[in-house]
Amino acid sequence: MAKLAVIYGTGTGHTGEMAEQIDDGARSEGLETEVILLGNVTEDVPGGGRTTSVDDALAIMDSADAVAIGSSTYNMLPVVFVEQLLEKAGSLDLSGKVGTAFGPYATRPKAVGIIIDAMKSWGMDVVEPGLQVSGAITGKIRQESRELGESIARALSGKR
Ligand SMILES: Cc1cc2nc3c(=O)[nH]c(=O)nc-3n(C[C@H](O)[C@H](O)[C@H](O)COP(=O)(O)O)c2cc1C
Repeated sequence: MAKLAVIYGTGTGHTGEMAEQIDDGARSEGLETEVILLGNVTEDVPGGGRTTSVDDALAIMDSADAVAIGSSTYNMLPVVFVEQLLEKAGSLDLSGKVGTAFGPYATRPKAVGIIIDAMKSWGMDVVEPGLQVSGAITGKIRQESRELGESIARALSGKR
């Protein structure tokens, strides 16, 4: 079964809400999936959930067939763990894997474009334009996120 890694960084949880829907959409199309919240270290979070270090996330990226990277925009940049992931991921061979990006913003979106540009520079097959959304995570945004997950599955099946 083809595998999708949904890897994201967030400040206040909005990006995670999108990640869960992308995951749902991809699984509904038959992909094996893993959702990864980036953090300083790989550990269970008290009260529930789990964070994954950038280095462990890179290993997961390396073994996946498709990668969706999510980040909100803070001060015109991606979340710091996503920046670190992008800096290090260039050392992997990601060419030919399917990639896309997603994330919320307020008024000046940046992160999704930065991620998409990085994926192209690594030679990934990018599902464009990804999904960047402004404001609260509404039902419409949840649906669009789910559809992005389905699009990733279709892009993968087109390669087989
Ligand atoms: C300190 C700070 C800086 C921000 N900088 C930007 C920015 O440069 N551009 C933008 O569009 N949104 C900016 N935002 C808005 C966030 O991207 C937005 O609230 C987003 O939904 C947060 O998603 P998250 O909960 O996944 O981190 C900023 C928010 C804060 C608190």
